[in-house]
This record gives sequence, structure tokens and C-alpha cells, in this order.
Amino acid sequence: MSGPVIGVFDSGFGGLTVLRALLERMPQAEFVFLGDTARLPYGSKSQRTIARYAAESARFLVERQAAEYLVIACNTASALALEAIQEAVAVPVMGVIEPGAEAAAAATKTGAVMVMATEATVASHAYAAACRRRGLRGVEKACPLLVPLVEEGWTDHAVTEQVVRIYLDEMLAESSAAGLRPDALVLGCTHYPLLRPVLERAVPSGVAVIDSAEATAERVFLSLAERVAAAGASECDAAQIRCFATDSVAKFERLGSRFLGQAVGSVELVDLGG
Ligand code: DGL
Repeated sequence: MSGPVIGVFDSGFGGLTVLRALLERMPQAEFVFLGDTARLPYGSKSQRTIARYAAESARFLVERQAAEYLVIACNTASALALEAIQEAVAVPVMGVIEPGAEAAAAATKTGAVMVMATEATVASHAYAAACRRRGLRGVEKACPLLVPLVEEGWTDHAVTEQVVRIYLDEMLAESSAAGLRPDALVLGCTHYPLLRPVLERAVPSGVAVIDSAEATAERVFLSLAERVAAAGASECDAAQIRCFATDSVAKFERLGSRFLGQAVGSVELVDLGG
């Protein structure tokens, strides 16, 4: 099979939710995934550090793994390091913020959108700015407890449900204090798609849950459809996936399948420096 090699980058293996969405749309494409597990989490780090880590990771995918298109699955890196990544590599780069905001714009009728994300993503206000560009009001909430709960495998657990409800109630109270009636909730972090059932139970009726992973996969598919079709893959060609991680390869192999929805196979360890 030929066709563009699509690089997918995340701070860890949560970004496999984006790869999963990409695979659903492009089941015959070639993917190379890098999880920067040695330097995870990005969500509590500064912009400067996130930009440096993300640029190094992007260069690894393009220069050493021949990626011809980059998908930044990590919301935090998309929010704080998109420009640094674009400067570091000479291939098209797609982050998750714009597609997520676009999908929210398509879903909302009230013009008010809630966003759950990491501390760093919320501090950057990248989602609020992307909403504003579309004439929407974005109410953002940092939900730092959710990533560890998902990594613990507590995706359908009473404690997680309670934590989700607390975050949501706070966000709804903030919205109503600002006179807003949000009717869409953007999952602004790679890990949150695994909490979708819990979130769907917790949101008030009429609130649409928007997965930025799905919205991003759709945008990537649209921008690469011609090249993928021109590669002339036959129905029986399967996707090729190579996975790399900067640490915790065994954990990646063990937990990654939850995010990818299938076995991740063997993961190669790579050293990107400190
Ligand atoms: N991948 C990150 C994100 O989507 C979550 C994990 C982290 O903090 O590194 O924002």
C-alpha cells in the first residue's frame, strides 16, 4: 500500500482515541503514532515546555518516520504548541481545537458551548478563542482529576461519575451566572471520549456531547481523501500502524487497547532526550 504516511502525536496513549477515529474513516491508510509517555502529562506544564516537547516529537515523526501529514491528537499540544510544531516541520499539521470548535458550532443552537480540558488547555483559552471566532461563547473548565481516573481504568466507576457531575455542575453554574444556556459540551482532552457514557448520563437533556477526536478525523479525511484514494488501496488492504513511546512501553501496550479499541501490537521505545 502507498499513500501518505500520517503521523499522529500525543503526550501519551490517550491520543489513540484520535487514531481510532482516523482508522474508522481511513481503514487502509498508514499511520505512525508517537506517545511522549516519558514527559506526560503535558496538561500541567508551561507553554514553553510543551512547545519544546511537541516540536521534538513532531520532528521525530517527520524526519525519522517519514510522516507526510501530522495530526496533533493532544489537545494541550494543539492549544499551546501548534505554531511551534508548524515551524518545526515542513508538512501540513492538523490540531484538534479548530475541528472541535467547528463541530460545536454545528451543534449549538443557543451559541453557548462548554469545554472540559486540562489545566494548560483551559489556561490558554484556545477553545474559547476558537468559539469566539465562530460567534460563540465558550465556557471552559479544567478537569485535572479526569486523566488519572481514565488511566486507572475507572471509566465507568461511581467515583468518576461523581467527579464528572461536580465539574459539570460548576460549569453550568458559571454559565448561568453569565446568562448563558450552553447546549453543547466539547470533550477537550484525548482521554474524555472514554468517559462519553458517563458524560452523556450527567449532562442536562438537550446538551450535545462533541468529541473533538471524531471532528478532527473527519477534517483529516477530507483533506487527504484524494491522496488516499489515489493510492488505490484495495478492499482487503488493512491499515498499517506503527507505535512509538518515549517510556512505559509495557503500560502503553497494556492500556492502549482501551483507547484504540483494538490491540496496539508491539510498541517501540524511542529516546527524544530530556
Ligand atoms: N493528551 C492530553 C490532552 O489531550 C491529556 C494528557 C496530558 O495532560 O498530557 O490534553
